[in-house]
Amino acid sequence: MQLLDIMQAMRLRHSVRSYLDHPIEPEKVEILQSAINEISAASGLRVHLILDEPQAFTGPLAHYGSFKGCKNYIVITGEKGRDEDVGYYGEKLVLLVQQLGMNSCWVALTYNRAKISVALQKGEKLHIVIAIGYGANHGVPHKNKPLAQLCTIECTQTPLWFENAMAAVLKAPTAVNQQKFHFTLCADGKTVRAKALLGPCAKMDLGIAKYHFELGAGDADFIWA
Ligand SMILES: Cc1cc2nc3c(=O)[nH]c(=O)nc-3n(C[C@H](O)[C@H](O)[C@H](O)COP(=O)(O)O)c2cc1C
Repeated sequence: MQLLDIMQAMRLRHSVRSYLDHPIEPEKVEILQSAINEISAASGLRVHLILDEPQAFTGPLAHYGSFKGCKNYIVITGEKGRDEDVGYYGEKLVLLVQQLGMNSCWVALTYNRAKISVALQKGEKLHIVIAIGYGANHGVPHKNKPLAQLCTIECTQTPLWFENAMAAVLKAPTAVNQQKFHFTLCADGKTVRAKALLGPCAKMDLGIAKYHFELGAGDADFIWA
């Protein structure tokens, strides 16, 4: 199956909360499941694909979050303190879903916890739910903070790869669109420091933004501090 280019998927992705009653085709399920298996092995997180289960997006919270018709979702569970990894690896799946011609929404709060039947192992918590499926719409672009507020450049000239990486960061989803992170290109023009500021899910957002940064930077020879 031909996948949409990942940079194009990043540009097209917006949170979608209303879904069509259209099942995910078996070949797409297979691609998703195989990515999930790889991510679970690489991250040590447990990633669960739940299909055709309409209950998790019913009830007052889901109503408050304006979710409609969502029957398919991903649940990421794992040890506490893994928020940045959850963001980093979860965004790989979010972009894959977009590459497969579907839509998604990260959901930290507005789902029905009681209806999610994933059994937690000892020491595990439910980190996040990601709604997936065929959207009734494609969502809308979010507002961005001014770039100067999101990054600092300590070297004399800004390399093109850093500009591209920050353009990709601007496309990253963040909880309540807070964009509570800061990227610094150090004086050596090569080392990048990325940190989460204070806010709900800010570390998860940082992991998501770092994945976007890496994609935007392409094959640039940068290193994380
Ligand atoms: C970690 C995280 C948690 C989120 N939790 C929720 C949520 O509980 N309910 C919801 O409707 N949207 C949630 N969102 C979606 C954000 O509101 C959305 O990403 C943000 O407004 C930016 O819009 P965009 O995704 O369309 O670019 C969450 C996003 C992230 C990254």
